[in-house]
Amino acid sequence: MVKLWRCEICGDAYIGDEPPANCPFCGAKRKFIKEFKEAVVSFDVMLSEKDKKNAEKALEVEISNAAFYFCASKKANEVEARKLFKALGKVEAEHASIWRKILKLESIPKGMDSCSEDYTLNLQESHERETRAIKFYKNAFLESDNKRVKQLFEALVEIESDHLLLSEQRGVVK
Ligand SMILES: [Fe+2]
Ligand SMILES: [Fe+2]
Repeated sequence: MVKLWRCEICGDAYIGDEPPANCPFCGAKRKFIKEFKEAVVSFDVMLSEKDKKNAEKALEVEISNAAFYFCASKKANEVEARKLFKALGKVEAEHASIWRKILKLESIPKGMDSCSEDYTLNLQESHERETRAIKFYKNAFLESDNKRVKQLFEALVEIESDHLLLSEQRGVVK
């Protein structure tokens, strides 16, 4: 029977018979997706100085990666490549919006990142960007004492690790 589900990472709701294996908006794993009434979601977090600095950096990373993916999508010739990069761009834009809410910002700047004309080079750059993001998020997780902030950084490590697999499945060597 159709139900309303909610992702505890991005807070967005999904309508479906079953919970999705991954949040269709932010990519979070199924363990974070609950029936709407059971989901615990908060963007009202008391940030330490360190958490605030890391949240600001995370926002920057996600804006930058979203812009890169949308650029790569526009340059791609094949439909699959176009759709892959667009899907990745949407997920990263959703991540930026998580940090926007945590930082209580009204709006966020648009990323200006460029990309290559070449699909393979863009896949390679995707892999490098995701690797850097994972490293940063793992460190930010360790630096935080806040339960919600740690949960977000942990979920993002998992999500960006999935993104690494997408480029590896298409021939990028780790
Ligand atoms: Fe989500
Ligand atoms: Fe991301």
